[in-house]
Amino acid sequence: MAVVTGGRRGIGQAIVERFVREGARVGVFCRKKASDETLQQLEKQGTVFFYQVDVTDRVMLEEAFARVNKEIGELDILVNNAGITMPGRLESLKEDQWDRVIDVNLKGIFLCSQIAVKTLKNKGGSIVNISSMSGMEPYEGMGAYSSSKAGVIMLTRQMALEWAQFNVRVNAVCPGIIRTPLNEYLIADPEIHAARAALIPMKRIGKPTEIANVVAFLVSEEASYITGQAVLVDGGLLGSIQSHIKGRPVSKAKNSC
Ligand SMILES: NC(=O)c1ccc[n+]([C@@H]2O[C@H](COP(=O)([O-])OP(=O)(O)OC[C@H]3O[C@@H](n4cnc5c(N)ncnc54)[C@H](O)[C@@H]3O)[C@@H](O)[C@H]2O)c1
Repeated sequence: MAVVTGGRRGIGQAIVERFVREGARVGVFCRKKASDETLQQLEKQGTVFFYQVDVTDRVMLEEAFARVNKEIGELDILVNNAGITMPGRLESLKEDQWDRVIDVNLKGIFLCSQIAVKTLKNKGGSIVNISSMSGMEPYEGMGAYSSSKAGVIMLTRQMALEWAQFNVRVNAVCPGIIRTPLNEYLIADPEIHAARAALIPMKRIGKPTEIANVVAFLVSEEASYITGQAVLVDGGLLGSIQSHIKGRPVSKAKNSC
């Protein structure tokens, strides 16, 4: 069975639905109950279970993981997906804003994983942490977010190194621009949507299911020898900076070989 944090909408919801299709029972840790009809239906069917939890609260997490083990079964998979953004340039970002982003995005993963590994180490298992392309390259005006997501990549590598001896694999997925409720207010604007899609070599914004597919692979037996990796899923965006340098004959480049 699996636990997915922040699984009531967006990327987390796509991961939950994918796991259910694969035959898993899934505990969803979220602050609010899901309003989505599909998830409510899955709850009625007894494949999805909701636990009202803030991932920054150790006491709530200890209780929730204990209930999961009792009500759903022994944990095999943890996906640390819950995350928040906090726009603000570093020179004016408030200390409590910085703290909240680091607490949810980084400390939350540490807390959930530290509790989960007590169970996972008994028989092996898999953890996937959702980082971001912003954890690989800075995102102007999102300094707390980028720093937290870079921390997630190193925390992933650290956990992978320390927990390989228990046969617990730990990997990260770094999404590019994915259309979810988090950025819907921007992407719903056709001009912004078109401008963003145009920047991406694959010329389109990603879908939550395209992140869920990678998570499903990483937790599967197919990935049984992969640990400590950060997989970028961005339609080529992060590697395309040289294509935006004006004056370069990108399309007319001569083959010099
Ligand atoms: N959408 C993108 O383009 C994108 C890109 C890169 C990385 N990501 C990352 O993917 C993950 C999911 O993002 P999304 O776009 O689906 O966002 P979203 O806002 O739709 O979902 C985030 C979920 O996390 C939950 N959450 C937030 N704080 C929490 C807390 N303290 N305790 C428990 N749950 C909490 C929210 O309630 C929500 O359900 C995040 O970690 C985000 O940083 C998203």
